[in-house]
Amino acid sequence: MKIVTTIKEIKAILKQERRGDKTIGLVPTMGCFHEGHLALMRRAKEECDVTVTSIFVNPTQFGPSEDFEAYPRDLKSDSKMAEKVGVDYLFAPSVEEMYPEENLTHVNVEKITDVLCGACRIGHFQGVATVVSKLFNMVNPDFAYFGEKDYQQLMVVKRMAKDLNFDLQVVGVSTVREEDGLAMSSRNRYLSSEERKAALVLSKSLRLASEMVENGEKNPGEIRESMIRLIKKEPLVNLEYLSICDTISLRELTIIKREALIALAARVGKARLIDNILIKGN
Ligand code: PAF
Repeated sequence: MKIVTTIKEIKAILKQERRGDKTIGLVPTMGCFHEGHLALMRRAKEECDVTVTSIFVNPTQFGPSEDFEAYPRDLKSDSKMAEKVGVDYLFAPSVEEMYPEENLTHVNVEKITDVLCGACRIGHFQGVATVVSKLFNMVNPDFAYFGEKDYQQLMVVKRMAKDLNFDLQVVGVSTVREEDGLAMSSRNRYLSSEERKAALVLSKSLRLASEMVENGEKNPGEIRESMIRLIKKEPLVNLEYLSICDTISLRELTIIKREALIALAARVGKARLIDNILIKGN
């Protein structure tokens, strides 16, 4: 695996690879790898001739009071893990390389960014859409892989790629969970053992919702109430939002007919955790 830090070099290398008619898969990340990231890389390996993983902790998607400085970074361990799953190129540019001067151009996906995490993290998805479109232009992948844990991000990137005619396919990969159900996240390392135990109520509440739908419940209000009742049993967990919404528009549903997304965010100690489940109505 080759580590590349400049845009000029990654473009030159991939231009060469493309000459051999090879397909390129991109896994954009902020590093601090766990099994969730590795699942994206494995999927890219399966489906593409050349796999590129980018590591860039993107300052423009963090709000002023968020954890940009504290966000865990470990290039040494990340590169070992990426190499082990067979990544071909690890693209790890610096902030100066990505943003050599003030960025005056931004990519803004409307409507689907006003809700869920977008309502709490103002400007977050503009930062994500802008950096992802920069990465798409640098790597020019045929396929780009994103985790379903960040479901709203996946939908924002899909819509951006469609609206801006990026010639690539955005692929969503299922959330990877710890054995006890906790969704894998780089921010889980902020949790104390007591907080980690409390955080399990989030995935438990999603399972409860899914069971209620399986048993015929169609009323989002009933499901929401039961979930909140369960989550409130854990005083260390502060729910930020809980949404039962359409899987495409991300607007709240008044009745569950076919599919629904149940998504939530909560603060547990220093960590802001998100999780979701896609459910099929009866
Ligand atoms: O999900 C992430 O790690 C980031 O939001 C992404 C997609 C790499 C953009 O910075």
